[in-house]
Amino acid sequence: MQQLSVVILAAGQGKRMVSDLPKVLHPLGGRSLLAHVLGAASRLEAAVRVVVYGHGGEAVKTALAGESGVLWVEQAEQLGTGHAVAQALPLLDDAGVTLVLYGDVPLIQPETLQPLVDAARQGQLALLTVELADPAGYGRIIRDDQGRVQRIVEEKDATPSERCLSEINTGILAVATAKLRDWVAGLTNENAQGEYYLTDIIALAARDGVPVEPFTVAEPLEVQGVNDRRQLAALERFHQARQAEILMRNGATLLDPARVDVRGSLSTGQDVVIDVSVVFEGTVRLGNGVKIGPFCVLKNAIIGDDVEILSHCRIEGAEVGAGAQIGPFARLRPDTRLAAGVHIGNFVETKKTTIGPGSKVNHLTYLGDAEVGAEVNVGAGTITCNYDGANKHKTVIEDGAFIGSNSSLVAPVRIGRGATIGAGSSVSRSVPDGSLCLTRAQRKEVANWDRPVKPKKL
Ligand code: UD1
Ligand code: CA
Repeated sequence: MQQLSVVILAAGQGKRMVSDLPKVLHPLGGRSLLAHVLGAASRLEAAVRVVVYGHGGEAVKTALAGESGVLWVEQAEQLGTGHAVAQALPLLDDAGVTLVLYGDVPLIQPETLQPLVDAARQGQLALLTVELADPAGYGRIIRDDQGRVQRIVEEKDATPSERCLSEINTGILAVATAKLRDWVAGLTNENAQGEYYLTDIIALAARDGVPVEPFTVAEPLEVQGVNDRRQLAALERFHQARQAEILMRNGATLLDPARVDVRGSLSTGQDVVIDVSVVFEGTVRLGNGVKIGPFCVLKNAIIGDDVEILSHCRIEGAEVGAGAQIGPFARLRPDTRLAAGVHIGNFVETKKTTIGPGSKVNHLTYLGDAEVGAEVNVGAGTITCNYDGANKHKTVIEDGAFIGSNSSLVAPVRIGRGATIGAGSSVSRSVPDGSLCLTRAQRKEVANWDRPVKPKKL
């Protein structure tokens, strides 16, 4: 099979974004616009992906350094889409086919593109078009009376009757690389904008008897470019609606599909219930029967079966075992690992902490750098004092221990198996198994104490 090269045009400045960030690095669904396009190219099994960059090139390259096998070509001056493609051509093999995509058209789907690639492999010039209610600003598709595509005319070069056509050029096309090379070499900039138009190759194909095969995409937002922040927001909503549909198809109940955001990848078991205003970031996995209350943020987390997360929790870099209950108002920070059936209640923060099965930490507590065994009860207001200003130290609480309320555990410290810490204690030395540790000051009592009184005003 002829190998596929994908050329992604991304040299435009994106002035209308009014931003220091290059346009193609603006995020959509948690990934840059350009990362979406590179992802679509990968899913088509492109052998080569070339990005034509211009403005902010270094920042773009740095931001996408994690993408392997991307070739970068600079277009120092933006002389038009045809000129941009010409910059990439020296890197392409004539035996294959080339697909042209755009760094600021992020939601294009591989399923839409595959037929274009197939048509190019069969010797056609495949062109992606769309019908728009308002075609203003776009290149119009000119067909002959048998419906065959003859050429594309840019808005600025079009006659009034051509401007009435509602079928427009998305800019996306695929064709044999050798043909593309010939035609691009023949482009001129004799037009209203003084640019080398890639779109002029359509007329050259028609002249050379290469069949031009138009494919029409039904959903205009899929081929919508991002020029300003309003368009970015519209595409973000469209993308989120699509994510929500996938979640529901896979067996999740969304109390309001318009109020769940997935900024990364989310996998869900069945009978998951997600309440309103929940945000997922990075890679999140939810087991079967997970319930998430309103206003939660989950980032890079693995949540076991039947876990219940009550409202207003933030969970990041954590693993939560089956049947655990979290929140409301809990914060699980990176490297938190909770075993099955753990309860974490309101205003509890954990960091780099493992908690064994059945343990409860229900109120107002900080556990950092801690290893907590099974069936431990941590009372309200317990703090692990893990930081001495320079180093972090570990707290170990063994199985079955009971930590009374308002205790400070000054690390490094170990609380033995089944040990009890009396409320209000400050524990800075280890406590043996089975013992009671109390560090409270002795109570003093003065009977019949005369409290000072204010002199009465006259
Ligand atoms: C282009 C098409 C038009 C189509 C429209 C769809 C041409 C001549 N016209 O018009 O038919 O309807 O897209 O949005 O192709 N770019 C470069 N280098 C350049 C010029 C552009 O990399 O020298 C990139 C831009 O970053 C942008 C894309 O190509 O991502 C399109 O460029 P733009 O100037 O927006 O083209 P349009 O005039 O909108
Ligand atoms: Ca444009």
